[in-house]
Amino acid sequence: MKKILSVISSARSKASNSIRLQQEIIDKLQARYPESTVTVRDLVANKYPHLEESHLTAFYVQEENDSPEYRLARTHSEQAIREIEEADILVIGVPIYNFSIPSALKAWIDHIVRSRKTFTVVDGRPEGLVKNKKVYLAIASGGVFSDGPYKAWDFTEPYLRHVLGFIGLTDITVFRAEGFSVPGVQDVALQKGIESVAV
Ligand SMILES: Cc1cc2nc3c(=O)[nH]c(=O)nc-3n(C[C@H](O)[C@H](O)[C@H](O)COP(=O)(O)O)c2cc1C
Repeated sequence: MKKILSVISSARSKASNSIRLQQEIIDKLQARYPESTVTVRDLVANKYPHLEESHLTAFYVQEENDSPEYRLARTHSEQAIREIEEADILVIGVPIYNFSIPSALKAWIDHIVRSRKTFTVVDGRPEGLVKNKKVYLAIASGGVFSDGPYKAWDFTEPYLRHVLGFIGLTDITVFRAEGFSVPGVQDVALQKGIESVAV
């Protein structure tokens, strides 16, 4: 039995390839770990705000100067971090938008990467504080970036591995449904992605 956190960032709901791929990962996880629970965090339906000065002040305030106003400004961040801490497995759906991740996902990331909460610095070196969790990324894209001539254009997987690894989420497996804009590939892109899923 595992606690699975499913993070959705596609704006396409039913037509979404990343959500379909995510679902395949979750189905296989539930088959492997019966009675697992799934918490869905849809970042498009319930947006995380872009960081404003009030958030930053509240993130960095010293404990003795904390206040109800700062606690309120940390609501989204605390909720997102709590959901991650409570989960054993994260399944993150990632549509590639303009060579990178959707801004809805970036906003969530900006709320979970927090000094003293999810990372710290020891002897000048960053250390992630979110330990012992498995992460699956379900990446969907129009182009093919896992291999071939456009591999160098893949900023998505390296970025996510780096930023999630920075907070301690280093055990990351990537599945892709890719090539939805590529003739000859598009018709089989989703099926190929689904069939590649092994957990
Ligand atoms: C706003 C937007 C920007 C996109 N930018 C890219 C891109 O830079 N590279 C790419 O390969 N595909 C791009 N695509 C195609 C999507 O990655 C593709 O449709 C994928 O299936 C999206 O995931 P989803 O189906 O889960 O929403 C873009 C799609 C949209 C809607």
